[in-house]
Amino acid sequence: MLAKRVSHIKPAPTLALTAKVNQLRAKGVDIVGFGAGEPDFDTPEFIKSACIKALVEGKTKYAPSAGIPQLREALAEKLLKERGVEYSPGEIVVTAGAKMALFLIMLAVLEEGEEVLLPTPYWVTYPEQILLCGAKVVEVPLREEEGFILRADALREYITPKTKMLILNSPSNPTGAVFPEEEQKKIAELCLERNILIVSDECYDAFLYDGEKFVSPASFSKEIRDITFTVNAFSKTYSMTGWRVGYVACPERYAKVIADLNSQSISNATTFAQYGALEALTNPQSKEFVEGMRRAFEKRRDLAFELLKEIPRVKVVKPKGAFYIFPNLNYYSQKLGSDLKLADYLVEEGKVAGVPGSAFGAEGYLRLSYCLSEETIREGIRRLKETLIRLESHNNTQ
Ligand SMILES: Cc1ncc(COP(=O)(O)O)c(C=O)c1O
Repeated sequence: MLAKRVSHIKPAPTLALTAKVNQLRAKGVDIVGFGAGEPDFDTPEFIKSACIKALVEGKTKYAPSAGIPQLREALAEKLLKERGVEYSPGEIVVTAGAKMALFLIMLAVLEEGEEVLLPTPYWVTYPEQILLCGAKVVEVPLREEEGFILRADALREYITPKTKMLILNSPSNPTGAVFPEEEQKKIAELCLERNILIVSDECYDAFLYDGEKFVSPASFSKEIRDITFTVNAFSKTYSMTGWRVGYVACPERYAKVIADLNSQSISNATTFAQYGALEALTNPQSKEFVEGMRRAFEKRRDLAFELLKEIPRVKVVKPKGAFYIFPNLNYYSQKLGSDLKLADYLVEEGKVAGVPGSAFGAEGYLRLSYCLSEETIREGIRRLKETLIRLESHNNTQ
């Protein structure tokens, strides 16, 4: 008999989609997959070499549960230099990816029945983790007309005496929205006033376009820093998704418990992978690598946006960060009954795959990741357009 706490659990739909696409590809079907939530660049050689060196040198044993000291020190330095936020290494815990950091934070602070404010569309994993901790998801709808920006005034309405935490994810997966600094400040002040913890998931901070500047809520004031969990990872920034190294920076009383949870669950993020992560942080070549990826993504974003705009009855907001675009295909998904059916139809009929918006709490949308070559993006959106036009004319002739 399974426990009640897992009764709602679903596999991550993004991973499920990748599995479906891979299955079809294995049968020889040519599919354009816009599903991947990871850069299509390889991890740089200098990072791989550092990890290999660590293996050769015998860094193959347990590490401290909060992470190797050199990495925590390098992270503290980075946060000070890039964000102006002071953290001691004792306030930083290295985790098995950002996903695990988020889960451990929630395990550490959420009580049964407490409420978590979740701006929606949201990244698929947040609600699952909140529910696993026995807490309640309170969706805060973000409006497409406003570019999917969270506003403090809108947030206020959803606060109750049970509200414990707000999840901020800017740049956002799936919308690519970047919340303006002024609005983030108002939101953070509101959380401070109402005694609400902030989880700031900053996994896409390296991927900002149109000259946008990244801002971390923890940098606003000492008081806000003290209610904030700053979460980040090596996964997207350095194209290291499979390495499973992320981290959280937060006041020591929380960090200590999160490290204990680490020690009682996975012991530590893989030791030699942490040496690769250390290299990613400290090798001067990283800057150029990350900037190269950012520039490639910005060009691809422009391309995807221009092509999607040309599809009849499709609305699309221009993303300002991350590597996703989130067109509104509601007109078409209504014809088939749901965006799940539309996504299936697109795979079967159009040989093009994206993740349905309902996975992100936003029925009628389709998330496309543009971690693909420009040529593939062109071909994929051509297929999308043709399939939607065919669906329209097929429906009209029935
Ligand atoms: C918003 C967001 N947070 C966290 C993660 C997970 O990152 P990691 O692979 O480091 O666990 C992802 C991955 O897709 C993400 O999109």
